[in-house]
Amino acid sequence: MKYLIANWKSNKTSAEAQTWFSEFEALLSTRRFGKDVTVVIAVPFPFVPVAAEWLKIWKSQFKTTGTQPVAVALAVQDLSSYAAGSYTGAVSVRNLEGFGVEFVILGHSERRRYFHETSADVAAKVDQAIQAEMKPIVCVDDPYIDEQAQLLDSGQKSQVIVAYEALKTIGTGNNLSAADFEKAKEEVLEAFGLVPVVYGGSVTSSNVSAYTTLAAGYLVGGASLQAADFVAILDRAFSE
Ligand code: PGA
Repeated sequence: MKYLIANWKSNKTSAEAQTWFSEFEALLSTRRFGKDVTVVIAVPFPFVPVAAEWLKIWKSQFKTTGTQPVAVALAVQDLSSYAAGSYTGAVSVRNLEGFGVEFVILGHSERRRYFHETSADVAAKVDQAIQAEMKPIVCVDDPYIDEQAQLLDSGQKSQVIVAYEALKTIGTGNNLSAADFEKAKEEVLEAFGLVPVVYGGSVTSSNVSAYTTLAAGYLVGGASLQAADFVAILDRAFSE
C-alpha cells in the first residue's frame, strides 16, 4: 500500500475546509488512481465531523458501481496520550469514536518543537491509537529515529507507518535529495523493522517523482492546502 497524506496543520476555517472537499471531489471525478493508493487527509480536530460527513456521502456514491477514483481515509494530527477522563483540553481516542478516523499523525516535529512533546509522549499516543485501531503515522527526524523506536515494543513497531521528515526540509521549499532520503530510510528500517517509510518535507508535484521507488508515500503540508496542488501530486505520483 502507498499513502498520500495531506497535513493541513492549523490552517483553514470550517468554510474553507468544506470548499477544499468540494474542489477535491470535482477534481477526482474525472480521474482514476491505482488500487494500492490511499489518500489520507489529516484535518484539525474541529473539522473532523465535516470531513467525516463528506467522506460518508462521497463513498456512498460508489457503493453500487465500485468505481471509487481512489481510496480516501480520514486522519487527525495528534491525540491525547491519556485515555478518556479528566484531561482538560485534550482530545482522546474516545472523543473521536464514531467519526471513522483511521489514521493519526504523531510526533510531528512541530509538536516536538512548539509543544515540547517527547518521544515518550509519542509512544504513549501510539499506544492509545493502536488500542483504538487507528494507524499511527509516526514522524521522525534524525535525532529521534533510534530514541523513538526504542520506546515502542515490537508489536507496536510492526503497526506504524514512519514519516521521515528532516527539520530543514519542512515548509522551506528545500526537499531532501533522493540519496539522502535513501540513507535515512535505511536508518529507519534498522530501528523500526520492516515498516512503510513515507517521505515528508516540501513535497510538490514537481519533486515527488524523485522518491517514487524509495518511499511508501508522501506527507504533504503546504502543497496540500489547495486541492488542485494536492491532486497534482496525486496525478504525478499515482496516475494509472
Ligand atoms: P511541508 O510540510 O510539505 O510544508 O514541508 C510537511 C510536514 O510538515 O508534514
